[in-house]
Parts: sequence; C-alpha cells; structure tokens
Amino acid sequence: MAFNYITADEAAAMIKDGDTIGLSGFTAPGTPKAIPEALAAKAVKEHEEGRPFKVNLFTGASTSDHVDGALSRANAINRRAPYQNVPDLRKRINSHDTHYCDRHLSEMAQEVRYGFYGKIDYAIIEAADITPDGEVILGTGVGNVPTYATLADKIFIELNEALPTNLCGMHDVVLLQDPPRRREIPIYAANDRIGSPVLKIDPGKVVGIVKTNFLDGVKPFSAPDEVSKQIGANVVRFLLSEYRRGGIPKEFLPLQSGVGNVANAVLYDLGESTEIPPFMMYTEVIQDAVIELMKKGKCTFASTCSMTFSDDTEKKLFPDMAYFADKILMRPAEISNNPEVIRRIGVIAMNTALEADIFGNVNSTHVLGTKMMNGIGGSGDFTRNAYISIFSCPSITKGGMISNIVPMVAHADHSEHSVDIIVTDQGIADIRGLDPVDRAKCIIENCAHPMYRELLMDYLKMGKGGQTPHSLNAAFAFHNAFNETGDMRNADYARYGL
Ligand code: COA
Repeated sequence: MAFNYITADEAAAMIKDGDTIGLSGFTAPGTPKAIPEALAAKAVKEHEEGRPFKVNLFTGASTSDHVDGALSRANAINRRAPYQNVPDLRKRINSHDTHYCDRHLSEMAQEVRYGFYGKIDYAIIEAADITPDGEVILGTGVGNVPTYATLADKIFIELNEALPTNLCGMHDVVLLQDPPRRREIPIYAANDRIGSPVLKIDPGKVVGIVKTNFLDGVKPFSAPDEVSKQIGANVVRFLLSEYRRGGIPKEFLPLQSGVGNVANAVLYDLGESTEIPPFMMYTEVIQDAVIELMKKGKCTFASTCSMTFSDDTEKKLFPDMAYFADKILMRPAEISNNPEVIRRIGVIAMNTALEADIFGNVNSTHVLGTKMMNGIGGSGDFTRNAYISIFSCPSITKGGMISNIVPMVAHADHSEHSVDIIVTDQGIADIRGLDPVDRAKCIIENCAHPMYRELLMDYLKMGKGGQTPHSLNAAFAFHNAFNETGDMRNADYARYGL
C-alpha cells in the first residue's frame, strides 16, 4: 500500500478538541516528537482565537519536552496517564488543569483494552521503518503501542530518519489476550523471546507518515554526588552480603533498576565487583551505565521497555547496533513489567523513595503528601513481585530540613508488606521477617540521619498499644513542622498532647 506523506502540521490539523491519543514509546525514546509539538502550536492558536482545545494523552511512561512539555505549556492536555516527569506538566497536574491518572505501568495497556479509558482516536507511532503491508520496526522504546495501534481508529507514523534501521530484531512485540482467555507468559529467563520483531498494524488505518530526524534528547547523567555514591555503595554491600550467605543463587538473579544517579552508582559499583558474577537485567529502562556493563561482559542481557540512552551514547551506539542485537530486547510495558514474569524469574528490584516511614511504608510519588512528583511508574509492578525489593533514598534532604525517614509516610505507594530492604547513605535496614516495632528500630538505627534518630525513637516510644504503635494525632508531626516552620527538626510532639 502506498502511504500518504504529510507534514506534522497537517497531522495536527486533523486532530480535534477532545480526541484521545495513544503514543508509542517509553520515556523519551520511541516517543513521537514532531506531531505533539505541532499539536501544541495548534492548541496555542486555537486558544488565542477563543476556542477550547485539549486532548487526552496516553503513553507508555514519561515522554519528553516535545510532548508533555510543549503540550502542557499550551495547556492542551485534558486527561493524562499513566506516568510523567516533566516540570510543566507537573504544574498543570498539581493545579488541576490536567487530570492525571497515575497507574502501574504494567496495567495501562490492559485497562485501555478493557475499555476503562474510552476509545482511542489516534495512535501516533515513532518508527525506524515501515513496510507497505504495515510491518513497523519500532524505535528505541515500545511502551503500550501494540494496544494503542490495535484500538486506534487512525494511525500517524513518525518515520524518524535518525534511527538506525538495524534496530530490527531488537523488539519483542506481543499483544496479550484478555481474561478469561489469557494464557501464561512463556518467559522463563530474562532473554527468552516470545513475540514478533515487528509491530503489525493495519495499513488502511495509516492516515499519514511524517518524516522526522531526532535523537531522543536524553541528557547524560551528571556524576553521582557523595550521597548517591554512598547509597549506591550500601546497596551493593547488601547485595554482596546476601550473595555470600547464599540468599541469592550462585548464578545471581536478574536486576531491575530505576533511573537516576543512585541507579547509575549501583550499576557502576556492581560492574567493579569481582565477586558478583555476570548478570542479566529484567527492567523497564536501561541507561548509559548498562552499555558500559555490557562492554565489560558484566551484564550479559537486558530485557527492557526502552533504551533510555543519552544523545552522546546514541550517536556512538547506533552505528554499532549489531553488537547489541543479541544483548538487548525491547518489549511492551505489559511484558517488561509483568508481575507474573517478575515473580517467576526472581527479579531483584531497586527503586527510589521520596520518604519511607519507620514501619517500612514508602512514598514514591507525593511531596509532603499532596504534590504529585512523577508517579508510581513501574516501581509497584516490580516491588510487589520482586525476589527482594530494595528502596533507597537519602537520609535527609534540603540540608537536613527534611528527614526522608518519617513517623508515617504522608502518602503510601508501597506498603510494609512489599518492602524488604531500605537503604540510605547511613546504612541498610533489612526488615524482612521483622514485626513492626523491630522494623522501626532497625530503620531508625540504620537509615535515619543521626540528627533525627532521637525524635523518631521518641515517636516510637510514645505509641500506645497495638501491633503498630502509631500515635495518630502526632503521626504527621514532621510534615506539619516542615509546612509551618520549613524544618522537620521542629517537630513538637507536646502540641499533640504527647
Ligand atoms: N519531602 C519533600 N521533598 C522531597 C523529599 C521529601 N521526602 N525527598 C525529595 N524531595 C525533593 C528533593 O529535594 C528534590 O527537590 P528539588 O527538585 O527542589 O531539588 C525533589 O524532591 C526530587 O528529589 P531527588 O532526590 O532528586 O529525587 P530523584 O530524582 O532521586 O527521584 C523519585 C526520586 C522518587 C521522585 C523518583 O525515583 C520517582 O519518580 N520514582 C517513582 C517511579 C519509579 O520508581 N520509577 C522507576 C521504576 S523502574
């Protein structure tokens, strides 16, 4: 079939106020760039001329400034799911301009198929190539595109000429059947391939192809600061001691790691360890550090939803893609983050908390309990099903005015029932098998900053009765002190009658 080549503006002109759009990709990689920007420009014009213009936008995960940044500055997003991390969108969400539904990434595609989000008008897909009969070689990220492409009435393709065509073979495209017909997902090791190297779409639905030429625009991570290095070293210390005592099988287990400086520091230290054998990753994103581990032979394989590499790494890597073809497999989010697979293959999960409480509950999403930061992302998919679930955060933030260990988290994303290990720059709290009071002592002694230990211990001692001795009237004494005085150290239990 001969496709219609159009401009991004022509594509944007077809999209109407109130339409629902599903984007390919996961983080910036694999995510369309030109049509969303053109759509933002159209929204600005529509608003200037007094007409409403907002779309509903569903993705695989976070996107980039081309999408969430541009569209949020234009106030053009009505509903948004399942994850974001762009400051302009964060502002829109926290001021209720955009209705954000923060979902587990593994669940988004199936929930869209179940009809929980209404119909999809357009799928916009970034592609490295497309054949006339609709076989698409995806870009550097997959996300929920198999579902969006199947359900959408119409499809736009962004054919990104900056992508290498030899990405072919690095995707494992699967569309799960829905209950009651779903079968087991036959992944028994991180490197098992179960799907197709291409996304098959109905070529009759393609209303236009827009040619683009963009790298993904991911910034390289800055060198980890001292605190991140210390947290990273503590995570690796835990993994090593667990490995030595036989808590992790001798072949090691696949790792999941979030993004950011701590994740980079952990991967770097793992690469330096001579005791930890070569390992695989079963994770949702891989960043630059994984490439270094692969070159060293330390990481032998990565199952991921996207290759979130900086532009510099993409430039070096794209000509050399063949070397990585049997080392990296990109899968849809409902497979990369699938609870069944994570539980079966024994993934060790490493994620980041904003704050943790003394009983082991974790807040990853809401600053001081109210302001959305990013979203739960894949952290819940992995944490709840991991062989061992590790959360890390600094012991203090903003020079000590915030303690990241608090009496009670102001928003709970991951409960005490799923969290195994908490790590800060201060040390490691292994709370597996402990009751709430022992967990509290372990977390306070090992993870809280010394400047907060006494305050936290006093809170624990004041608790009256019950297995989990909270004093509910004072449970948010730290948060209230910060809101009122700008410093959690001013927490004063006496004002709550304690
Ligand atoms: N209370 C108030 N503010 C806090 C805080 C706390 N307990 N902890 C951190 N902050 C502030 C920091 O000061 C910083 O503010 P700034 O931007 O003004 O400097 C901001 O929150 C971000 O903190 P930082 O330590 O830089 O966070 P990070 O980049 O390490 O990200 C999460 C931490 C939790 C926000 C991030 O990992 C996330 O979104 N996680 C959920 C999704 C996820 O886990 N995905 C991976 C799954 S594979």
